[in-house]
Amino acid sequence: MSEPLRLGIAGLGTVGVGVVKIIRQKTALLTARTGRDVTISAVCARSRSKDRGVALTGYAWEDDPVRLATRDDVDVFVELMGGEDGPAKAATEAALNAGKDVITANKALLAHHGQALAELAEANGAALRFEAAVAGGIPVVKALTEGLAGNDVTRVMGVMNGTCNYILTRMEDAGLTYDEAFAEADGLGYLEADPNLDVGGIDAGHKLALLASIAFGTQVAFDAVDLQGIGSVTIEDIRTAADLGYKIKLLGVCQLTGRGLEQRMTPCLVPAISPLGQLTGGTNMVVLEGDHVGQIVLRGAGAGEGPTASAVMSDVIDLARGTRVSTFGVPAASLVPAKPAKSVTPAAYYLRLQLLDKPGALAKVAQVLGEAAISIDRMRQTAHDDAATAPVLIVTHRAAPADLEQALTGIAQLDVVEGTPVALRIEQP
Ligand code: HSE
Repeated sequence: MSEPLRLGIAGLGTVGVGVVKIIRQKTALLTARTGRDVTISAVCARSRSKDRGVALTGYAWEDDPVRLATRDDVDVFVELMGGEDGPAKAATEAALNAGKDVITANKALLAHHGQALAELAEANGAALRFEAAVAGGIPVVKALTEGLAGNDVTRVMGVMNGTCNYILTRMEDAGLTYDEAFAEADGLGYLEADPNLDVGGIDAGHKLALLASIAFGTQVAFDAVDLQGIGSVTIEDIRTAADLGYKIKLLGVCQLTGRGLEQRMTPCLVPAISPLGQLTGGTNMVVLEGDHVGQIVLRGAGAGEGPTASAVMSDVIDLARGTRVSTFGVPAASLVPAKPAKSVTPAAYYLRLQLLDKPGALAKVAQVLGEAAISIDRMRQTAHDDAATAPVLIVTHRAAPADLEQALTGIAQLDVVEGTPVALRIEQP
């Protein structure tokens, strides 16, 4: 039998503990599946004394992740600390410089430094893998790099932040306001330490940028993702969308066209009867489209101990078997710089405006839309307590995104409109 594969695990939070449990519980299975033992040499975390509900006996303890990453008895550095810079980056670089393979669940690190780290890995003959960084337990990195490797990928879409999907689902199902649903998610421990990573769409944007790189052979371009969080979505929007046969989702879409790479992570309306529309709670869904395979849909837990540890183990098992795939599916030097492009694909839009309730106000809005060549499909003014202004909800016919932008700028400048209008794209996945 081959030499054991020896891991050094940095970070013993939910995911790290999950990985330790799998390795302790499935010793024989891992050996059978890889032809060698998979062992843990050393671990590292902030607090040594904390009871984590799993035995750490037999593992050396390091206080410094860089020391852990470069130990002689560590073949694979497993980075489960998080954070786009700081110790996670320092230890990952140290491991790669020492020629050690790295497995990480850190989407922020890769979204910001993925190209440089992939190049560093290759320069040192090391592997850098990140199945657990995108959509938790869903094996989407493997699906793109291996399962669909015979396709030109035409589009990737998905709901990739379970916390946002939980909040939107609770608003719809329980009639909670955004603030109430946010507080509930917070109470359940769903939110990241910086909640804006979740509700601001940043975490999901990181994941989309990583998938775009694999799907289209482009360098990770997180800064080019058109990002909008869910904080502006109201219960009114959700109810109106439901009446029209739609659900509101924080939806990521990326595609490569002749004009460049489109990447957006924004709240959208999707048909309630579509797989994305039926996705409830903290679950994730990724929709992949390839020229030969057509459309495939992957659905599963996007976070949590078991699912995320399962994804880490997929990379561990690959490395134990000697399966070594480039970080983004092709050698890092051949990834081309992304040329960001805005979508020109027409879509219907849902608009919400707060309008002065006086004669002629609506006519002014209709005129701006007309001047931008946008036709109104449906419209509703809801009952309101405020005597001065009224919420007006408009669904347009299909319009070019540039025309919509022009109209929004015009509407925002009207003296009969209060605040900033909200516009959500209606996607037909
Ligand atoms: N906070 C993320 C989510 C999980 O809610 O999906 C980690 O990326």
